[in-house]
Amino acid sequence: MDLFEYQAKELFEKHGVPSSKGRVTDTADGARQIAEEIGKPVMVKAQVKVGGRGKAGGVKFANNADEAFEHAQNILGLDIKGHVVKKLLIAEAKDIAEEYYISFLLDRTNRTYLAMCSVEGGMEIEEVAATKPERLAKVPVDAVKGVDVAFARSIAEQGHLPAEVLDAAAVTIAKLWEVFVKEDTLLVEVNPLVRTPDDQILALDGKVTLDGNADFRQPGHEEFEDKDATDPLELKAKANDLNYVKLDGQVGVIGNGAGLVMSTLDVVAYAGEKHGGVKPANFLDIGGGASAEVMAAGLDVILGDEQVKSVFVNVFGGITACDAVANGIVGALKVLDDAAASSGHSAGSAPGKPLVVRLDGNKVDEGRKILEDAAHPLVTLAQTMDEGADKAAELASK
Ligand SMILES: Nc1ncnc2c1ncn2[C@@H]1O[C@H](COP(=O)(O)OP(=O)(O)OP(=O)(O)O)[C@@H](O)[C@H]1O
Ligand SMILES: [Mg+2]
Repeated sequence: MDLFEYQAKELFEKHGVPSSKGRVTDTADGARQIAEEIGKPVMVKAQVKVGGRGKAGGVKFANNADEAFEHAQNILGLDIKGHVVKKLLIAEAKDIAEEYYISFLLDRTNRTYLAMCSVEGGMEIEEVAATKPERLAKVPVDAVKGVDVAFARSIAEQGHLPAEVLDAAAVTIAKLWEVFVKEDTLLVEVNPLVRTPDDQILALDGKVTLDGNADFRQPGHEEFEDKDATDPLELKAKANDLNYVKLDGQVGVIGNGAGLVMSTLDVVAYAGEKHGGVKPANFLDIGGGASAEVMAAGLDVILGDEQVKSVFVNVFGGITACDAVANGIVGALKVLDDAAASSGHSAGSAPGKPLVVRLDGNKVDEGRKILEDAAHPLVTLAQTMDEGADKAAELASK
């Protein structure tokens, strides 16, 4: 998960990375009030999860609280590369002598961590990399050894930071590494890392990407989630521990195992070409234990997607055999039918959208028999994956 600048700076503060004082607000009045509290010139900064905010007019200097109010009015609601500004960071404006660049990231290609550092900060780092590659140091970081102050100093030196600030920069860079490790991040980037006229080193911008795989040991990170921006169906799926990704299509897909679900998406997309170009509506892997509860939660999420016209359940029975999955489907439909009945729809037609089910693998005959016996009016059985995809696509196109 990418963080907003103000959230990144909360983590910086926690680990002692020097920055500039500031607070976030979502109104122009709030901006005025924070500027008054700071009592000095401030920067009014759009909080959007996209680069190039300054160039787009989303970062403005204000001499006083009235100017901060005015800038805030202009920046709130601004569209920056498709991201509408809803929040502003009002931060004390610092005197800047020079602007540098520093980041830590995961270098997947080389299977290591990487520090990048340059004396050429403030501008887009891609441009520095393209036009003056010799000014951008790329230093591999051993995950076990990490970055102590001495190594941080060497990173700064390789990035051509001037000798007078190497000691101060080293301390800050080592603390940024601490943020990188202790907060379980995939990226910590500061652009600009500035030198003030009195040779302090401050992180005036911050980009942090958290590693969602570590959420279980980072309970504090939950509050960073941007609930406004996350798709409500994805939120619901997450609350039910489902691996769900919303796509733009009409055929809901449920399967067990990421590989099978991925290939189901391909097969549905292919079949959809013959049926007016319908597409898969989502990725949903219900994993190994396809219990009635998990199946019901999955169906509930998918059927909540207004775009969905049909659902393709594609399950290969393994340790959880097909009979258990079939019972799961029947149980799920009952749960949904009951829920719909109690909200006034007629039973038996509750989901209102047809389901095509293909079962194979362990105890397939038992599984099919359970579904045949249940004879739910919305369920069609398919013998093969291709047949199921074709049927589901056809139903979705009607
Ligand atoms: N607190 C501050 N005091 C003084 N100047 C600042 C401060 N914050 C930002 N600036 C100036 O504004 C410029 C742009 O700010 P910032 O780096 O935060 O946004 P950006 O780089 O345009 O956005 P992004 O990083 O999303 O591409 C900085 O390079 C710096 O010159
Ligand atoms: Mg920046």
